[in-house]
Amino acid sequence: MAELEQYPFMPGPRGVPAETYAKRREEAPLGKVRLPSGDTAYLTTTYRDAAAVMSDPRFSRDLSRPGSPRMFAGFSLAEAPGSLTSMDPPDHTRLRRLLSGVFTPRQVNGWRPRLRALAAELLDALPDEFDLLHDFAFPLPVQIMCDVMGVPEIDAVPVRAWSDAMLSTSRLTEEEKVTAAMEFYAYIAELIAAHRDNPGNGLLATMIHARDGEVRLTEDELVRNTLGLFLAGHETTGSVLARSMLRLLDPRDGYARLVAAPELVPSTVEELLRLEQPGDSPLLRVATEDVELPSGTVRKGEGVIASFAGANLDPSVFPDPRVMDPRRDTGHLAFGRGAHYCLGANLARMELQEILGMLVERLPELALAVPADDVPWTEGAIIIRPERLPVRKTSGAGGLVDDL
Ligand code: HEM
Repeated sequence: MAELEQYPFMPGPRGVPAETYAKRREEAPLGKVRLPSGDTAYLTTTYRDAAAVMSDPRFSRDLSRPGSPRMFAGFSLAEAPGSLTSMDPPDHTRLRRLLSGVFTPRQVNGWRPRLRALAAELLDALPDEFDLLHDFAFPLPVQIMCDVMGVPEIDAVPVRAWSDAMLSTSRLTEEEKVTAAMEFYAYIAELIAAHRDNPGNGLLATMIHARDGEVRLTEDELVRNTLGLFLAGHETTGSVLARSMLRLLDPRDGYARLVAAPELVPSTVEELLRLEQPGDSPLLRVATEDVELPSGTVRKGEGVIASFAGANLDPSVFPDPRVMDPRRDTGHLAFGRGAHYCLGANLARMELQEILGMLVERLPELALAVPADDVPWTEGAIIIRPERLPVRKTSGAGGLVDDL
């Protein structure tokens, strides 16, 4: 029998999803892969299969079921029990309902002025040359998550280091990753303890009241999900933004077009979400019974990865899929679908729109400060993004619109 391909696949230059997605889609759209744990699972490569898996409650996220395959042999935040991503209904529904109130479009729109003010303040304070990822794209969503949670501030430096370690964007041993996770957990537990007597009126207060009230959130669930929200609330948004800015600034006509026509920002953000996701789905699901998918059957007990990279580049849904075309009107799957659809999708969209809109308005001459090929990328294939993105506020190269 042929060797199974090892998942996740190493990306191409500038983090583009590996060619193997297209090859598999043509030859055997629902084939098996070998996971980092050594277990096997099906990998979808079409839009229809990915959407079907994510929408079907017969696929469970609870990998603690006996015999379930695992993505990683050792520690994995996404597979730890007690967090929203690894729960099934009714527990998932109970927790999701509790958290979702603050992420409605109306609530999220209410934070637009705050985000604009923060972004303007940050941009003004930055020197001509700065690292767009660490000086801007991460700090903003971190501060917004603090506001959402009702926590004045967190220690951004260790929180960033723990997040990196847990998502293994750095070359750390298993032991170092577990240590980082434990330190982050202890920090969040302390943060919660400090807010218990005076929780304010943010999401953390809602969660603390739920812990102490009728919803029966356990202490461990409270800590895990607070940690998960801080992590999910900045890492993906910052990574999408860094990848997107590299695409727009090299070649620079992508950015120049937005400077000339800022009304294209929202539709461009949708294409950037489709094309610049920092990795494929690390979230494995397991079939609780035999399920027929458009491309084949997944048997009870088998694992399946609903691949965003496969779905979002499926040419039957997105003709010429690697081309960024803000006029497309088909929905991407960057935020998933079904019960686990991204809780923060409205927030992430608003942040990306406001941040990109503010950059093109205030920094029309923004340019890379190094050649694009010198931008360092994360190692491995889990979180795929620039490690740093040095940019300059002033291009020093004349008017931007002339570049069009
Ligand atoms: C561009 C930014 C983001 C992207 C691309 C993204 C993507 C995703 C995707 C694809 C899923 C579903 C995974 C699956 O079903 O397998 C998800 C779930 C989730 N996201 Fe996001 N996300 C982003 C930003 C955020 C933000 C800002 C938050 C902060 C609140 C957040 C919180 C969550 C949570 C809590 C879940 C789990 C939901 C559940 O299991 O019910 N995400 N995200």
